[in-house]
Amino acid sequence: MQPILSARQLSKSFLLHGQPQLILQNVDLEMRAQSFVCVVGSSGCGKSTLLELLAGITRPDSGAIFYQGREITGQSGLLGYMPQDDLLFPWLNVTENVLIPVRIKGKDVKAAKQRVQELLPIFGLKEHSDHLPYQLSGGLRQRAAFLRTCMMDTELLLLDEPFASLDAITRLQLQNWLKVIATELKLSIILVTHDIDEAMKLGDEILVMKRRPGRFVASFTLDPNRESRAKELLELKREILALVEGKKEQV
Ligand SMILES: Nc1ncnc2c1ncn2[C@@H]1O[C@H](COP(=O)(O)OP(=O)(O)OP(=O)(O)O)[C@@H](O)[C@H]1O
Ligand SMILES: [Mg+2]
Repeated sequence: MQPILSARQLSKSFLLHGQPQLILQNVDLEMRAQSFVCVVGSSGCGKSTLLELLAGITRPDSGAIFYQGREITGQSGLLGYMPQDDLLFPWLNVTENVLIPVRIKGKDVKAAKQRVQELLPIFGLKEHSDHLPYQLSGGLRQRAAFLRTCMMDTELLLLDEPFASLDAITRLQLQNWLKVIATELKLSIILVTHDIDEAMKLGDEILVMKRRPGRFVASFTLDPNRESRAKELLELKREILALVEGKKEQV
């Protein structure tokens, strides 16, 4: 089967004190449709730079990117991209923030509003459609940013550390939620993180990136049934979570 996304030999340098510094070197990537790929690597190794290249925000110095068999190198707006910062516009409510990609692409806003109405409950935002970003918790802001990314209406999403700024409990909830949504909406996702637990939990495949220059040094395919082996641990974690959330009173 043809990969939904592939990248061939991507390299990228940035100028540092007037000298070119190699940030990514010969990065190859091949992704199956509806798979969940996690890229892990330490801070500064080039994870965000890679997503920016895939999203067409910047161009590689060399190499090429293909989406559904077509070259898209340097073209933006084709893949859903959620940057490291949520970048919600503070003066727009949730609905209007979410509609931004629709307006930018010049699509039918009325139809999109209908779609937003359908999606708001799935994203846990039903009660917040007319709230401004400052009225939302960190977790709700991330959901709003994620819904906005989904409104780009592409099946492939690039998510840059979507949960990094959240507390552990909210992060856990949103991770669970994302996994369900990805399956429900038949999404293909590349998620960048430096949290190995997160990658192990969410990914079908984990790509490990090393720095200076950024490159992939390993890839792991994860057993979809891995959770059954860690069942006891998971049960315990669930129990603690239920206690913390007040869903369970006492052991
Ligand atoms: N526009 C730019 N100009 C110059 N240097 C840049 C630019 N963007 C990124 N860099 C440098 O490239 C390297 C990789 O940055 P990048 O943001 O891709 O790392 P990262 O893996 O996403 O890190 P983090 O986990 O902290 O988000 C860093 O050394 C950074 O300073
Ligand atoms: Mg980054």
